[in-house]
Amino acid sequence: MKNKYVGSLEHNTVERSFTDYIYSCYIPKKVENYILKFHQSSTLLKLPDSKHQSIDDNVIPWLEYAQYTDITPDYYEQKINLNTSTEVNVIGSYRSFNKERKFNFEELSQLLNDAFIRDKQKGSKKYGSAGALYPIVPLVLVFQDHDTLTRGVYVYDGIEQTLLKIKSWVKDEALHIKKYVCHDAIDLPEICIAYAADLRRSIIKYHIRGYRHALIEVGAMSQVFKNSLHKMSKGVGEVSWSGFNDNELTKRCGLNVRLCPIVMLQWFGYTDSTGK
Ligand SMILES: Cc1cc2nc3c(=O)[nH]c(=O)nc-3n(C[C@H](O)[C@H](O)[C@H](O)COP(=O)(O)O)c2cc1C
Repeated sequence: MKNKYVGSLEHNTVERSFTDYIYSCYIPKKVENYILKFHQSSTLLKLPDSKHQSIDDNVIPWLEYAQYTDITPDYYEQKINLNTSTEVNVIGSYRSFNKERKFNFEELSQLLNDAFIRDKQKGSKKYGSAGALYPIVPLVLVFQDHDTLTRGVYVYDGIEQTLLKIKSWVKDEALHIKKYVCHDAIDLPEICIAYAADLRRSIIKYHIRGYRHALIEVGAMSQVFKNSLHKMSKGVGEVSWSGFNDNELTKRCGLNVRLCPIVMLQWFGYTDSTGK
């Protein structure tokens, strides 16, 4: 049995697998419909009409006040100062990249394996997954041919440590995706990670709570990836990204928009020497 994401990839919808059978028999329809519908309600970022403003004007001044602040109680019983003798080096996100300098295949292999590899004995990964179900599929999106990789979409397989190409893009399609499907991404690197959630795998055991687990897993994975990136080299950076039209991107990556939507991107590369 190929117990992977069968049924979630468009090309495999006709394939009757054991996994599909279990899903169809044992996911309560009410739960499945609720989650798939709820997820779809979050998919549209902006209407193509640029006049449509997704953030209320009245909220904007408050955002200025709230950004980069912690939520702390107004009243508390006691305040204890921690020992602050050690200096912590905080590395934030980057948006300014050196697009000419790309990772070679060896660096990319090292990075992907360091972040997402599965331990051969126990089957663990560096991040946890509720019920060890690992419903999040890490994809590599390549927008420009480079080294061994040609434009398109690859699934990372942490057992065999391979990249499985599931979709090719011609130059114009890759450009269209970067320019119009992902918002303001044209100056970002020519490669990114996409996190796709196999929603039926997410909910079969824990039902609605499984959806929460899946989103938590995306956060954990992207943090592990960030750590691996900064461990690998200096002068590199990444940024998490929800600025894309989910259904169009998911479809163009060859995935089923209802069952295996892309929920987050993470751009990474060498940074511009001028800073962030
Ligand atoms: C789930 C998630 C989605 C994000 N989406 C975007 C995005 O679409 N565009 C963007 O510019 N930054 C995005 N970011 C990056 C945040 O803006 C960034 O983490 C935050 O501003 C803190 O930045 P700093 O670490 O550089 O200080 C996203 C971050 C997260 C965790």
